[in-house]
Amino acid sequence: MSGFETFYITTPIYYPSNKLHIGNAYTTVAADALARFKRSTGHKVWFLTGTDEHGQKIQRQAAESGKKTEEFVDEIVSWIKELWRELDISYDDFIRTTEPRHTSSVARIFTRYIEQGDIYKGKYEGWYCTPCEAYWQERQLHENSCPDCGRQVELIAEDAYFFRMSRYAPRLMEYIESHPEFIQPVSRKNEMVNNFLKPGLEDLCVSRTSFDWGIPVPGDPGHVIYVWLDALSNYITALGYGEKDGLFDSFWPADVHLIGKDILRFHTIYWPIFLLALGLPLPRMVFGHGWLLLQDGKMSKSKGNVVDPRVLVERYGSDAVRYFLLREIPFGQDGVFGLELLVKRINTDLANDLGNLVSRTVTMVERYFGGTLPQPSNADYPVDQDLKETALETPGLMKALMDELKIGDALAQLWKLVHRSNKYIDENAPWDLAKDPSRRERLATVIYNLVESIRFISVLLIPFLPRTPGRIWEQIDLRDQPHLQNRDSLEIWGQVQPGSVVRRKDDLFPRLNLNEELTRDEKQAAAWVEKRNEDQSEQITLEQFQQVDIRVARIVDASPVVGTDKLLRVKLDLGAGEVRQVIAGIARHCRSEDLPGRLVLFVANLKPVKIRGHMSQGMLLAAEDDQGRLVLTTVAGDISEGSKVC
Ligand code: ME8
Repeated sequence: MSGFETFYITTPIYYPSNKLHIGNAYTTVAADALARFKRSTGHKVWFLTGTDEHGQKIQRQAAESGKKTEEFVDEIVSWIKELWRELDISYDDFIRTTEPRHTSSVARIFTRYIEQGDIYKGKYEGWYCTPCEAYWQERQLHENSCPDCGRQVELIAEDAYFFRMSRYAPRLMEYIESHPEFIQPVSRKNEMVNNFLKPGLEDLCVSRTSFDWGIPVPGDPGHVIYVWLDALSNYITALGYGEKDGLFDSFWPADVHLIGKDILRFHTIYWPIFLLALGLPLPRMVFGHGWLLLQDGKMSKSKGNVVDPRVLVERYGSDAVRYFLLREIPFGQDGVFGLELLVKRINTDLANDLGNLVSRTVTMVERYFGGTLPQPSNADYPVDQDLKETALETPGLMKALMDELKIGDALAQLWKLVHRSNKYIDENAPWDLAKDPSRRERLATVIYNLVESIRFISVLLIPFLPRTPGRIWEQIDLRDQPHLQNRDSLEIWGQVQPGSVVRRKDDLFPRLNLNEELTRDEKQAAAWVEKRNEDQSEQITLEQFQQVDIRVARIVDASPVVGTDKLLRVKLDLGAGEVRQVIAGIARHCRSEDLPGRLVLFVANLKPVKIRGHMSQGMLLAAEDDQGRLVLTTVAGDISEGSKVC
C-alpha cells in the first residue's frame, strides 16, 4: 500500500439491544462523510463500523423478547445493516464481536495480558451499571446511581480478573500531554486527566461470572471477558491484528476513533492502556462529538418515529437527512434534532439555495439555447472573476476545515459558493440579456459560468450528499465524464464542454409544506403510540382492577432457593398474625440479607402454586425497566402490614 497516505476511521460498535436511533446514525453519517472526503483527496481509506454484541444488557434484552440471544442480535444487526445501506454508509468492514475472527483474537490478547502479569485473579465487590456496562466504586456514585447515565446500579460480588491499570497510567499521561490532538475536542482533555487519571487509576475488573453471553476467559470458562475489553479490541481485531498479511500493518494506528462524548473515558483511558500493554502505538485522535437532543427533550425510543432514522430516510431521502445531521450540529457540540428544523433546512438550503440554482440554470439553457450548453466568450467581467475565484478557492478551504473535522463549517463554506452563484444570476439578470440580441455572447458566458459553477458544487457535494451529484450530472451531461467528477478537475475553471446537452429533470429537493409534515408526523406518532399501547396492554375496567387484592406486607425473612441463582424464598407478614411464603425471581436484583424489615406491595389473592418444590402463596410486586432490571415496589410512608392498596 506504499505510495498512498492511509486513513483509518472507526465508529463505535453499536449495541444491537434495540433498533438504532437518529443519534447513532449521526456518528455514522459523520464518519462516512469524513471517510468519503479522505477518499476524494486520494487517501487509502479504511472505514470500520460494527456491533458490540456481548454483555449482560444484550442477554437480558434477548431473554425479555423471548428469543435466543443469537437470533435476537442477528435480527437487529440485519436491521442496522439495512439502515446503513439506506443512508449510503460506505464502510469497508462491519465487525460483529460474535465473529470468530474477533473472539479468537480477543482470547489471545487476554492470554497475553495474563502471561505478562497485566491481568491477575481476585474478587470484585462493587457496583455495576448494566446499561453502561461500567464498574463503579461507592464513592464514585451520584446519589447511589451511575454517575454517567443516572440509572440505578447493582451491587455485585464475584471472583474476577483485574487489569493493572496503574502500570501504564504514567505513560498514558505522558502521551496525552505530548499529543494535544489525541483527545478532541481539547476541552474534554482536562476532564479526562483531572477526573480520572490524576486521582489515580484503580485496577479494572475485566471479567464477569454472573452471565455467560461473552467471550470465555481462556482456561477459566466460568468467566466471560468484560464487554468493554472485548468491544474496544474490535478496532484491531478487524484489521487482523496478530495475523499474517492482515491490514493491521497498513492501517494501525487509527487516525480517528469517532465516538459520542458519553464513551470518551473508555476510549481515552482504558483503550490506550490496553494498547500500551500490547506494545502498540496509540490512536492519533479520539473525537468525542456532542449530543443530539430532541427539540422537546431527551431522545428516547418512546418518542417513536421522529427518532427512527429509517422512517426519516423513507420520507425525506437519505441525502436530506445526512445534510441536516452534518450541517445543523456544530461538530463537537450538542445540537437539537426536530422535524421542524429538518423541514426548514430542506426548504432553505436544499430546495431554495441548491435546488433553485440548478433548476433555474438548466431551465435557462433550455429556454435560451435549446438545451445545448453555449460557448463562453473570452471577455471577463469582474463578477465572472469573483465567481471563478470563489469556486477555485472552495475546495482548499473545505479541505482545511475537514482536516479539523469541522464538517458543518465545510458545508457552510460550500454553501458560500451556492450563494455566490445564485447572486451571480441576479447580478447578470439573464432574462434581460435574452431580450437584447446584441448581448447574446454575454448571455452565453453567464450561462456557461453557472453550469461550470454547478459542476464544482456537485463534485464537492459527493462526500456529504452522495446521491445528489449524480442527479445533477444527469441534467448537465456529466454522467459519462468521470474525469470531470473528481476533485482534481476543480483545479482549473472551464472544464465543462460547450455543446453538452442540458436537460431539466425533477426538482432535486421539492419544497415541503411544514404544517403538512408536522400533521403527518403527529398522526404517525399517535398511531405509533396507539400501537405500542395495544401491544403492551389491553385496557381493563375498574372492577377488573379491583379483583386484584394488593396488600402492604413486611418481609420477615429471605433466603436463596437451592439449585437456582434466580429465586429467593421470601416470608411476609400480612398483619393479624398472617405469614405467607412466596418464591420470587428477584435473586439477581437484590441480596436476600437486605430484605428483612422492608415494606413491600404484595398480591394476596393469587392461586397458590408450587415452584421448585416450595409453595408460593402470592406475588411480590416489582418494577422492571427496559434494561430488564427489577426494583421491588414499596410504600412512601409508614403504614401497617395488611393495609389494602386501592
Ligand atoms: O456505547 N446523540 O454503544 P451504543 C449523538 N457499544 N450520538 C449518540 C446519541 C445522541 N443522542 N446517542 C447515541 C456503545 N449516540 C458501545 C460502544 S465502542 C468500542 C463500544 C452515539 O449503541 C454516540 O456515538 O450505546 C455514542 O457513543 C454511541 O451512539 C453509543 O452507542
